[in-house]
Amino acid sequence: MIKLGDNMIVNSKKMLSDAKKGSYAIPHFNINNLEWTRFILEACEEQQIPVILGVSEGAANYMGGFYTVASLVKALVQDLKITIPVCLHLDHGKSVEACKNAIDAGFTSVMIDASSLSVEENVRLTKEVVDYAHARDVSVEAEMGRVGGSEDGVEGKKYHAKIEDCVRLYEETGIDSIAPALGSVHGLYKGKPNLDFVTMQKMNEILPIPLVLHGGTGIPEEDLKKAISCGIAKINVNTELQIVWTKAVRAFLSEDQTEYDPRRIIRSGEVPMKEQIHEFIKIFGTRS
Ligand code: 13P
Repeated sequence: MIKLGDNMIVNSKKMLSDAKKGSYAIPHFNINNLEWTRFILEACEEQQIPVILGVSEGAANYMGGFYTVASLVKALVQDLKITIPVCLHLDHGKSVEACKNAIDAGFTSVMIDASSLSVEENVRLTKEVVDYAHARDVSVEAEMGRVGGSEDGVEGKKYHAKIEDCVRLYEETGIDSIAPALGSVHGLYKGKPNLDFVTMQKMNEILPIPLVLHGGTGIPEEDLKKAISCGIAKINVNTELQIVWTKAVRAFLSEDQTEYDPRRIIRSGEVPMKEQIHEFIKIFGTRS
């Protein structure tokens, strides 16, 4: 019997520390279904760059659960003969239990997002996840401050991370990467994005771990590049791919009112979505 590729997906430690050293960013693209996973894997394989597949709890539930997602990703990596490093990451895990469940199912990286709690509680829950994850070679991202906007229907009120809180979160937990909220929002920006590059740069000088930027959609190219020069080594993108894919599918369906094959309908978004992925990779300067 051929064993499903357990060794084919990796944690994010090496890819992110290489990115921090090389001053580029690894793309984190959120997945929603089999087709999106395939489109993203194929686009990144074409470019020969590492990728992080982000899965929110909502998306995991939508697809059936953590085991379904982990099996799907491993099977696609195997069937598509993907050779690049692929990390399967829980995006915004809301509880220690969710993180542990994702790890048990085969996720290679988790984010514990206790950023809405006090700093003490954030540190306590994050440490619990780190202890469980590191014993299983799984990497951990945590968040400090609050990214604005809405994700999976959860509205966030924006406030900036403080440097001393981030240092404390790192020192007391041993996390592998940190997402400091510094002005970005999930979803579309109301007005112009206003990222706090000064604090970002200071955090990069003080913290030895890679910084993560959430809310990659709608940030101008020059700001994304500036964020990378200030230490951002992972950029999360979700909404932009949703918009590009939906626009293409909508146009396809309105052009042909008689189409009913779901394969052709879903695939009508493939080329524009892959083009958008290539565009992000170019901006992020991602290398192998
Ligand atoms: P966007 O939806 O704004 O691209 O943000 C994605 C994200 O940060 C996922 O964690």
